[in-house]
Amino acid sequence: MKLKTKDFLTLDELSSKELSQIIDLAIKLKKQKNNKAKPLQNKTLAMIFQKPSTRTRVSFEVGMFQLGGNALNLSPNDMQISRGESVQDTAKTLSAYVDAIMARVFEDDLLEDLAKNATVPVINGLSNSFHPCQILADLMTIKEKKKKLSGLKIAWIGDGNNVCNSLLYGCALSGINISVATPKEFQPDSAVVKKSKSKTQVELTTNPDDAVKNADVVMTDTFTSIHNLDKKRVKKFLPKYQVNSSLMKKAKKDAIFMHCLPAKRGIEVTESVIDGPQSVVWQEAENRLHSQKALLISLIK
Ligand code: CP
Ligand code: NVA
Repeated sequence: MKLKTKDFLTLDELSSKELSQIIDLAIKLKKQKNNKAKPLQNKTLAMIFQKPSTRTRVSFEVGMFQLGGNALNLSPNDMQISRGESVQDTAKTLSAYVDAIMARVFEDDLLEDLAKNATVPVINGLSNSFHPCQILADLMTIKEKKKKLSGLKIAWIGDGNNVCNSLLYGCALSGINISVATPKEFQPDSAVVKKSKSKTQVELTTNPDDAVKNADVVMTDTFTSIHNLDKKRVKKFLPKYQVNSSLMKKAKKDAIFMHCLPAKRGIEVTESVIDGPQSVVWQEAENRLHSQKALLISLIK
């Protein structure tokens, strides 16, 4: 299966069918752990990181290796871009050597510039506004646990951040209802909400109890993202938006807890929840590998 889109920047580039095919391929790849097929033999992925990463960097590098290709880890500080070479020229140069580019950046404009000027696929490995690769893994994990996506309800608690924005698109494409509980000033991007609302049920609330009612999945993320490290923010979320055992009890009995990681125990989530029986965070983290392999196979020509 090849995707219609050249680039993967927000998740909204995919059709519902394409998203569901990537998830199913990811589940299949996970089951065939010892498959020796090398569909990306001799292919190279360039990885550019403006921000730190553990999961994204390692899962992409290992994923390329397992598919028969390889990955280059590029720090912008070591590239001529640090001395003023344009994004446009960098994109054209990289396209001459590699088969795809994955970039973790601050500004979304930079990714769009890269995508416009690169002749090879550009993948968003997290930007200030979106984190689509995370949502592939999250939807895969939910499908593994719940055996379906359409008709489920997700409660997002805390900061309406980059992960939440891509999640809204993921829910819209998968027929999942979502309730987002945040302080008023930390709601997700209004254009993303509007677009997602045209395809699925989206509720914005300031009350976590309302959001988790009947939820199959409860999700959160740190209150301080990499681009938003102001510690004063945290006070605006606590104690109301912490996912703890008492909040989990208000969701469905068999609800699962998810977090993209890294997590701050005792802040956005208590230890009893993230390390408790409802948490699927390690499966979720592992699934970054399988879902990105499925994405790379589907994107790279
Ligand atoms: N969830 C996630 O993207 O983790 P890293 O920041 O470690 O890549
Ligand atoms: N919202 C977080 C996600 C980290 C994977 C951030 O942008 O820092």
